Amino acid sequence: MVLVIIIIIFIFSIPPDARRFTPSATTRVGLDCWGLMNNREESCDMEAGAEPRPRSTSAYLNPRYWDDRFASEEHYEWCKDYSLFRHLLHPLLSPALSVLEIGCGSSRLCEELLKDGVTDVTCIDLSSVAVDRMRKRLSDQGIHGVKVLQADMLDLPFGSECFDLVIEKGTMDVLFVDSGDPWNPRPAMVDKVMKMLEGVYKVLKPEGTFVSISFGQPHFRCPLFEAPGFTWSVEWDRFGDEFHYFFYTLKKGRLSSISGRHQSKSSDVPSISLLHEELENEDYIFRTTIGESEM
Ligand SMILES: C[S@@+](CC[C@H](N)C(=O)[O-])C[C@H]1O[C@@H](n2cnc3c(N)ncnc32)[C@H](O)[C@@H]1O
Repeated sequence: MVLVIIIIIFIFSIPPDARRFTPSATTRVGLDCWGLMNNREESCDMEAGAEPRPRSTSAYLNPRYWDDRFASEEHYEWCKDYSLFRHLLHPLLSPALSVLEIGCGSSRLCEELLKDGVTDVTCIDLSSVAVDRMRKRLSDQGIHGVKVLQADMLDLPFGSECFDLVIEKGTMDVLFVDSGDPWNPRPAMVDKVMKMLEGVYKVLKPEGTFVSISFGQPHFRCPLFEAPGFTWSVEWDRFGDEFHYFFYTLKKGRLSSISGRHQSKSSDVPSISLLHEELENEDYIFRTTIGESEM
């Protein structure tokens, strides 16, 4: 009896909020990722913290979403920052290159390229807010040579064969949030991806290189990269610790020699394993709807 009274006193001494089961941030995202929470969209917002995560991933296709986001977001790196893939990109760089970055957002990739010796950089983004902020950011740092333009990657405002290197990081992935079944993507999405790739192919010099840094695994991306009409070799590598990102290198004017054309520079097969720290990252939410599955 005394024991029961002690237990009752103990329970009522705990504040009411603490008595309810409230999953931790990590648990909530983890539950969400496996579709175990009742309201998926709400669960994305619950994790918002400092990052303006959308209520639904289809928001990433809405230009207004990006304008609103960049109005308050100073810096966010999709697919990780330069330090994690520098070993893959650096060998492709040289001071003489003209580089186009597609969908720069609030990333500092541009500054990293300049630090590594590239002098001719053009950045585009569909969001005028991102463009204005980037211009200001560069100017505040005393960087004046970079061209930052508002432009649509589906309608690149450049002539043929004017860039040695075109790079995008997480930008093409935006198109995939609307893909439906990743094994059988919607034709409308495929049309947009092809339009973007045709534009990139057109603006690349004859021996230029396209680098695509992506969440998308090779079995989903390579068939698109290798569509008829493109003469470029397709190689990929991956980076990241437990949660992998893909680094595609497409060299115009060449074709990969092996059957199936695309080849991995890594010897092992890609896999996804999820670390709790990574689940805290918005990248994960983005990735859940672009159809990545364990190989
Ligand atoms: C996922 S974020 C990636 C941002 C940046 N590359 C990074 O690594 O952090 C996608 C970016 O693409 C831009 N974007 C979306 N659709 C675009 C389009 N049609 N043309 C150009 N940029 C676009 C967005 O405004 C946003 O800045």
